[in-house]
Amino acid sequence: MNSSSADRRLYMLSRHLAGTISNEGSGISSSPTSAGNSVFGNVVRAPEDPILGVTVAYNKDPSPVKLNLGVGAYRTEEGKPLVLNVVRKAEHLLVNDRSRIKEYLPIVGLADFNKLSAKLILGSDSPAIQGNRVTTVQCLSGTGSLRVGAEFLAKHYYQRTIYIPNPTWGNHTKIFTLGGLTVKTYRYYDPVTRGLNIQGLLEDLNSAPSGSIVLLHACAHNPTGVDPTFDQWGQIRQLIRSKNLLPFFDSAYQGFASGNLDKDAESVRMFVSDGGECFIAQSYAKNMGLYGERVGALSIVCRNADVASRVESQLKLVIRPMYSSPPIHGASIVATILKDRNLYNEWTLELKAMADRIITMRKQLFDALSARGTPGNWTHIIKQIGMFTFTGLNTKQVAFMTKEFHIYMTSDGRISMAGLSSRTVPHLADAIHAAVTTVG
Ligand SMILES: Cc1ncc(COP(=O)(O)O)c(C=O)c1O
Repeated sequence: MNSSSADRRLYMLSRHLAGTISNEGSGISSSPTSAGNSVFGNVVRAPEDPILGVTVAYNKDPSPVKLNLGVGAYRTEEGKPLVLNVVRKAEHLLVNDRSRIKEYLPIVGLADFNKLSAKLILGSDSPAIQGNRVTTVQCLSGTGSLRVGAEFLAKHYYQRTIYIPNPTWGNHTKIFTLGGLTVKTYRYYDPVTRGLNIQGLLEDLNSAPSGSIVLLHACAHNPTGVDPTFDQWGQIRQLIRSKNLLPFFDSAYQGFASGNLDKDAESVRMFVSDGGECFIAQSYAKNMGLYGERVGALSIVCRNADVASRVESQLKLVIRPMYSSPPIHGASIVATILKDRNLYNEWTLELKAMADRIITMRKQLFDALSARGTPGNWTHIIKQIGMFTFTGLNTKQVAFMTKEFHIYMTSDGRISMAGLSSRTVPHLADAIHAAVTTVG
């Protein structure tokens, strides 16, 4: 495709995503004068984001029993957002340190943060780090890290196609397309077993053109909660390397899935230990509860130190015109925690407590459905991992649960286990039972 048709395609997609292309398909809406006084009078209202829109609908519902299981943010047993103690401690240290200033960070962010983030995901003894083969840049949480990675690839990599799992986090397609890549999917989830379709996955990656980029969820796949086993990761790695595909890991849940930071990084480390190249986008939204601080990192593992430093020089050219340099506060919190042994240990305990509470919710929901004799096999609730359960409920059943029980979730039947508590499990189980027994 020549660059002008690629530009046109991106333009059309961005207008489509923004909802500016009318159903009549005219492409561009009518002239400003026909739409009243504002020069923006002909801007078409965009649809709500499918995930964040769930919270918008929830907020409008006056029911006292309403329950929001749409958004991927941790809640306490009391249903409240949580700021980790260790984060409060780090913030105190930062506030009381009079030597701290608010100058701009470098384009690539806080140096300590970058080094410590690479160690966290790759392991402190990683040969790739020791060999200076890794370049890490601080970005705006997981989303920003994925976007910077996409734009770098669109500019500097010979293949522009990225394969993402079907299904995947709803934002992936938009991030990568608007970042300049062509998005295709590979089979991932088997609705019959409610588990991994490893055969389909391997077949699809096997027929991807050499060099294609492959997006992999490092752990706690969103929305399915289905991860490959260690052996299956081994098969995926072998295939990816033998076909010269380029792995791009999205690590949004390290430590949040199993409660163990090293275990949740196993997939990434397996790929890095073979000496090959890969991309990793990290987010501290979930595992440190720093959602709104927008703190994350993009690491690119290269073949050698020389390539890594040239790659970093080009990453700066991607970032500078995008947001110039990243914010300082969230990255300083993370760096303060990661470099102090006591704070780090405290973090791991709080992280494990969050992960364990989610695992307990899985068990309670499973038990509640068993106690009600709800038709169907619900073992996937306890088998799936991470923040979400892909319930298998269909769109009609979801709509029924929202209308009759004021329970909000994405229409694909994904529920956030982190939004549940012992108090709300019976209400959810009643709703699922009613939906399954009355709506086909
Ligand atoms: C799979 C996945 N990747 C990336 C993100 C990015 O989140 P953030 O930009 O808040 O770090 C999320 C958030 O829900 C996610 O689920």
